[in-house]
Amino acid sequence: MRPLTRYLPEPIKKPLRTIRSRVQGTLMKQVFRKEMTVAQLNRLFRLHRYWYVATYADNQLISRHNCDFMTDERFLKGHRFAQQMTAQERPMWSAYLLQWAARQAVTVEGDFVECGTARGFAAASIVASLDWQRHHKRFFLFDSWEGLLNGQLTDYERTVLYGRGLDGVNQSYTGYYEEVQRAFSSFPSVVFIKGYVPESLSRVEIPTVAFLHLDMNAVYPEVEALRHFWPRLSRGAWVVLDDYGQPGRGEQKQGMDRLVEELGCEIFASPTGQGLIIKS
Ligand SMILES: C[S@@+](CC[C@H](N)C(=O)[O-])C[C@H]1O[C@@H](n2cnc3c(N)ncnc32)[C@H](O)[C@@H]1O
Repeated sequence: MRPLTRYLPEPIKKPLRTIRSRVQGTLMKQVFRKEMTVAQLNRLFRLHRYWYVATYADNQLISRHNCDFMTDERFLKGHRFAQQMTAQERPMWSAYLLQWAARQAVTVEGDFVECGTARGFAAASIVASLDWQRHHKRFFLFDSWEGLLNGQLTDYERTVLYGRGLDGVNQSYTGYYEEVQRAFSSFPSVVFIKGYVPESLSRVEIPTVAFLHLDMNAVYPEVEALRHFWPRLSRGAWVVLDDYGQPGRGEQKQGMDRLVEELGCEIFASPTGQGLIIKS
């Protein structure tokens, strides 16, 4: 409250506080609009005398750290390819982390695996940033291409996280399997395994894995996928957990935390919401 308003009587201060908090609430909603640019955000900060100059903002993360990666040609090549191929957008910092981890994994023995591919944004961004054909690796993409399996969800996922919206979510993940296959047709070593994880994992033999990306938006298949691939991950292999620290995804974090305790490793929690593991 401003200094002068301090002297106002409580019956006047109270509605002023209510108005102020509503205005702030509306402004906060704007901050979390995906399309707000860094310049717009900084204007909003200045307006509210909050002396913070952001260099980066997406719908999850605001930072004033250096983000030179946003103009890095190698990153942009993969990111633009994925944008064009899928007509989708992703927060740049998490897309960068994923691409970077995949680039480190290129020198590790084994294939690449993703569980939860949808239209293929992440996979496309990786293959395009890596000059994929040069590396003689296979990239296995596992997805039902029909969404999440109701019977695999926890009570919380079924009733709170997805609630009555599960049909809509599943519809948005259905109907483009052939389209995704066509989009990757210039990358012959990309292999599609259609079906529900974990059952689908045993349909193909992948003896060694260098890179694993888990992005199925549900705790059970993700935990089972990591359990399945753990003995197959080479020393130095990289694992990226897309939802590890995302808001509302506490069960996925708890499930992974329990599993890594069993496996004897540790997850790095990135401010992008992703979790990162290196197999030692
Ligand atoms: C968030 S999307 C993946 C996004 C993708 N990584 C990208 O970069 O665009 C989640 C995907 O997981 C898939 N999925 C969910 N549960 C699954 C399961 N048990 N087995 C296979 N796929 C599953 C859905 O069909 C959906 O395509």
